[in-house]
Amino acid sequence: MNNISMKIENLCKSFGNGDNKVDVISGANFSLNKGEFAALVAPSGAGKTTLLMMLGCVLEPTSGKITIGDDVVYNNKWLVKDDRALRRKQIGFIFQHHYLIPFLNIEENITLLPYQNGEDTKIVKKRVKEIMDYLDMSDKMYNMPSELSGGQNQRIAIARALANKPDIILADEPTAALDKQRAISVVKMLKKITRERGVSIIMVTHDDTLLPYCDKVLTIKDKKIDIKHNKELKDEII
Ligand SMILES: Nc1ncnc2c1ncn2[C@@H]1O[C@H](COP(=O)(O)OP(=O)(O)OP(=O)(O)O)[C@@H](O)[C@H]1O
Ligand SMILES: [Mg+2]
Repeated sequence: MNNISMKIENLCKSFGNGDNKVDVISGANFSLNKGEFAALVAPSGAGKTTLLMMLGCVLEPTSGKITIGDDVVYNNKWLVKDDRALRRKQIGFIFQHHYLIPFLNIEENITLLPYQNGEDTKIVKKRVKEIMDYLDMSDKMYNMPSELSGGQNQRIAIARALANKPDIILADEPTAALDKQRAISVVKMLKKITRERGVSIIMVTHDDTLLPYCDKVLTIKDKKIDIKHNKELKDEII
């Protein structure tokens, strides 16, 4: 068992062909350990979403190698056959907008994927109850998304990502739609999850004030990944 949660080696991604070809990521390397919380910061169009989608096995790289946990999932071609199964089982996504399904209540939204994966109803219900207690949202279990505030719905989106017991959470600007205080509370919650559950998280953000909560800061520079340990790591602000 190694301690690596995800690793990319010499990863490249281009879009288009011929004169229209655009290299977005070119020869990028980094690795993240289990339980680490990394921010991904780079200007608009630098390739942050592209990188997350490749790590999430949603977007096919052009070349290079991606390791998720103990599996090399991509090495110049997909090596894990059902990458969708891997994605459903190991990876949780959180987006800028919560994308809850408006005509399903909170419990139904959260349990949708575990049930689709064929998990036992009793086990899922017990886990969801635990997660909702943990996020302090238990009293909203049977509400509709429209009855919750933006910050509450974002916490539900986190609950939904956790309901699958992922090893990795990929969050693309999860706090962009929130005010400062709610943004900090969501980020604290994410940090708590890494500490208490050993989940690794990459969070795209444009908000520098959230960086002290992360262990590492990744940036995209010259189409490669620069990684900095966060000297200001503030464990006491969990
Ligand atoms: N499907 C696609 N086809 C062609 N080009 C694409 C595609 N997806 C992304 N790109 C290009 O790749 C580059 C990186 O896009 P990406 O969405 O990863 O940026 P980003 O860092 O997430 O930006 P933002 O902060 O605005 O969300 C952009 O130049 C974009 O136009
Ligand atoms: Mg983006």
